[in-house]
Amino acid sequence: MALLVLLVNDVSSVFLYGLIIAVMVSLPRYWLVSAGAESKNSYTITGIPQQLLTLLKTRWRAWLFLINGPAIIQNGYDKSNEQPYEVFSPDNRYVFVSKDEHIMEIDAAPDTVLSLQAASKQMLQPKYTMAGFNWFDRRGTEGIGFVRALRTLLTNNLPEVLPELRISASSLMDEMHASHPVVNDVKQSPLLPMILHLTALTNARAFFGQELCRNEDFMRSAMNFIEQTLALAEMIRLLPNSIAPMVGRALGKKLRSQKEIYKAMIPIAEERLRLKEQKRLGHEVPVHHDCIQWIMETAPRAQPWSADRIVHELMAIWFGSVHVMTTTIAFAMHDLCLHPEYAASLRAELNSEAYAEFEKNGKGLPLLDSFIKESARLTPVESMSTRRQAIQPFTFSDGTHLAIGDWVVTPLRAMLHDDTHFPSASSFHGFRHVHPQVLENLTHSKFGSLDTQEPSQLTDVNKHWHVWGTGRMACPGRYYAAAAMKTIIGQFVLKYDSSLVDETESRFISWRSFIYPRSRTKAVLKPVVAKS
Ligand code: HEM
Repeated sequence: MALLVLLVNDVSSVFLYGLIIAVMVSLPRYWLVSAGAESKNSYTITGIPQQLLTLLKTRWRAWLFLINGPAIIQNGYDKSNEQPYEVFSPDNRYVFVSKDEHIMEIDAAPDTVLSLQAASKQMLQPKYTMAGFNWFDRRGTEGIGFVRALRTLLTNNLPEVLPELRISASSLMDEMHASHPVVNDVKQSPLLPMILHLTALTNARAFFGQELCRNEDFMRSAMNFIEQTLALAEMIRLLPNSIAPMVGRALGKKLRSQKEIYKAMIPIAEERLRLKEQKRLGHEVPVHHDCIQWIMETAPRAQPWSADRIVHELMAIWFGSVHVMTTTIAFAMHDLCLHPEYAASLRAELNSEAYAEFEKNGKGLPLLDSFIKESARLTPVESMSTRRQAIQPFTFSDGTHLAIGDWVVTPLRAMLHDDTHFPSASSFHGFRHVHPQVLENLTHSKFGSLDTQEPSQLTDVNKHWHVWGTGRMACPGRYYAAAAMKTIIGQFVLKYDSSLVDETESRFISWRSFIYPRSRTKAVLKPVVAKS
C-alpha cells in the first residue's frame, strides 16, 4: 500500500534515495569485509575469488528477497518437506519452521531468548518513526497490561461501540462515494484510500474515543503516519548500522505525522492521568471507555505509566492495527468484486436478525466470517507469521540453530496455500469454513462450500491458521479486528453491488514478505436497488 503511495507523495524521494544509498553501501561492505576475511586459496580460472562470487550471489539473492519475497518463501517451503529452511534478506537470516513441534518450542522459549518485541522493533524502527519510542526487546519488561486492554476490555466493549461504528462507517462511505468522479459514464471509487479512511475512523473511535476521532487534523496525521512509518523504517533497515541512526534521526525529523499525533494525544493522556488521581482521592470523575483509558488502567501498579509511555504504546498499536486491517479489508473487497455471486447470501445474512445479535456480542455472521477468512487465506497480506528474533542463541531439539539476530518465522502464505491444510487450496470457496448444517439452514444450498473442509472461524488460532500468530502471543486484537472488519465490509455489501473497473489490471505490489493492494485499483460501487 504505502509503497505505491510513496511514488506520488513527498516521502518518495526520501525513500528512493535511501534505497539507492543502502544498496550502494551494503554491497561493498559485505564484499570488502566478509570476502576479504575468507578468501584464502579460492581463485577461479579467471582470477576472481570463488568466495567473492559466492558471496555476491548470496547478497544478490538476499536483495532479490525485497521484490520477490513471497515466491522465495514458497519455493523454500515446496522443497522443505516440512523441515526448517533458511532464507536471507539484506538485513536478516530467517529460519522458517512449519511443524507443530517447532512451533511449540518457539512458544515455550523464554521471552529473553526469542522475542516478538525485538522482531517488531527491527521492522518498525520506533525510535525514529514513533516519536522516540525505544521499546524493550524483552516482552513484559514494563508489563503486558496492553494484552488485557485489547483482548478483554476492548472485546467486552464491542456491544457499546459496534452500533456507533456502523453509523459512522455508513455515513463516511456515503460521503466518499458521492465525491468520487464519473469516468466514461461510470462512478469510479479508489478502493484502498476509501478503506484506509474507514478503518482509521473505526479504530480511532475504539482506541481514542470521540474527542480525537472528530479532530480532522489528527485523523489526517494518523493516516499519514502509517505510510510514513513503513517507508522510513524500511529505509533505516537497509542502511548499514554505522549510518542508520544518523540518517534515521535526520529523516525522522522531516516526517511530521509522528510528532503531530504525539502532540495531540499527550494532553489527553495527561488529563486521564489527572482524573485517575482525582478518583483515587475520592472525587467523582467522568468514565471513559476507550484504549487510552484501558492502557493506563492495566499498566503495572508498582510502576504506573507516564503520559509519554501511554501515547507511545497507542502509536504502536495504531500502526499495527490500521495497516493490517486496511489491507485485509481491501483484499476482501477485491474478492467481493471478483465473486459477485456471494453478494445475495451475504446481504440476506446482514439484513436478518443475526446482525442485531452480532452487534450485541461481536460474534457470529458465519457467512461473512467465512468469506473474509477465505479471502485472507487465498490473499494473505503477510507471507510469514510468528516472528521471533533470537536475542540469545537458540537451538531447536532437531539441532536447527539461531544465532543472535536471526529470526524464526512460520511460512504463513505457503501453509494457507497447501492442500494438506486446506483442500483444493488454490481455489476460492467463500463459504468453505461455514458448518455445512448452518450453511444449509441459511442459504438452502451448498453453494460456496467444500465437503472435505472442516468448519472453522476467522478468529481461530491453530496449526492451520497462523494469520493471528501462534501460541501465547497470538494477536489480542483479533476479536475487535474481526468485528470491525465485518462492520465495514458489511456496509459495502449492504449498500453496493461491487465490481472492479478493470479486472485484468494488476492489483498487488510485493515488498519483502508482504503483498499490498495497489492504491490505484478502482471499483464500481453501484447502489443496491431495493426490490419492491
Ligand atoms: C486483520 C487484522 C490483524 C491481524 C492479521 C493481526 C495479526 C497479528 C499477528 C500475526 C501478531 C503476532 C502474533 C505472533 O507472532 O504470535 C499480532 C500481534 C499483536 N496484535 Fe494483531 N493483528 C490484527 C489486528 C490487530 C488489532 C486491531 C489490534 C489492536 C486492537 C492488534 C494488536 C496486536 C498486539 C498488541 C500484538 C502484540 C501481542 C503481544 O505482544 O503479545 N492487532 N497481530
